[in-house]
Formats: sequence, C-alpha cells, structure tokens
Amino acid sequence: MRHLPHLASLTVTVVLALAGAAQAQTSEALNLRSLAASCAQCHGTDGRSAPGSSVPPIAGMPRDYLAAQLKAFKAGTRPSTVMGQLAKGFSDAQLEQLADYFNRQR
Ligand code: HEC
Repeated sequence: MRHLPHLASLTVTVVLALAGAAQAQTSEALNLRSLAASCAQCHGTDGRSAPGSSVPPIAGMPRDYLAAQLKAFKAGTRPSTVMGQLAKGFSDAQLEQLADYFNRQR
C-alpha cells in the first residue's frame, strides 16, 4: 500500500482541476448574464419588453436571426437608432453569446 499517498494526491489534483473548470464556466455564465442585463433597460427583463413598448421583445427569437441582426446593426447594414452604436461595443463572439442567451429565454 505504498502507492496510496501518491494516488491520494493525484485524486486531489484531479478534483481541484475539475473544480477550476466548473468555476470558469460559472464566471462565464455570470459574465454573459451581466452583458444581457444591459439590454433589459430597453428590451425588458430577459428580453420580454413590456406590452405596448416601442422596443421589440427579443426573448425566444431564433438564435441565427438574433445573431444576424446584431451583426448587421454592428456593420451598419441594418439601419437603427441605437442598436448600431450599442452593437459596436461587443465582439462578434459576444454578440453570438447574447443571441444564444436571448434565444433560450421564454
Ligand atoms: C437604449 C435602448 C436599447 C438597448 C439598451 C438595447 N436595445 Fe436592442 N433595440 C432597441 C431599439 C430601439 C431597437 C429597434 C432598432 C433601432 O432603432 O435601433 C432594437 C432592436 C433590437 C433587435 C432587433 C429585433 C428584431 O425584431 O429584429 C435586437 C436583436 C436587439 N435589439 C438586441 C439587443 C441586445 C442583445 C441588447 C443588449 C446588448 C440590446 N438590444 C440593447 C433599443 C435598445
């Protein structure tokens, strides 16, 4: 049983590595939630704008549609009042994450 301590420390290493991965995922999810929260001011909580609002609801829209619109705002190929300026502040990867996030809201 001379190998046991070695095995134990290996196990600890693996567990710590897994915990690190889980934490990275959690902070990425938090990051995305705070990006998405910046949209709530106009599009409502999680993209469900208030009835009668002049801002379109975006919750549950197709992911590809959302990503394409956000990139078109950023590129200026879709005319807009505010979205073009906002979209320029995000990387394409962030716009895709936002599209995915709002697609998953109901
Ligand atoms: C200051 C208010 C405001 C904020 C903040 C805002 N939007 Fe918008 N959004 C609008 C308006 C107004 C439109 C209509 C297009 C335009 O005039 O810019 C729009 C349109 C859209 C559309 C097109 C919807 C459709 O039916 O085609 C998408 C997608 C969108 N916004 C996503 C977002 C995301 C994602 C965020 C957060 C990063 C966000 N918006 C933040 C005001 C806002």
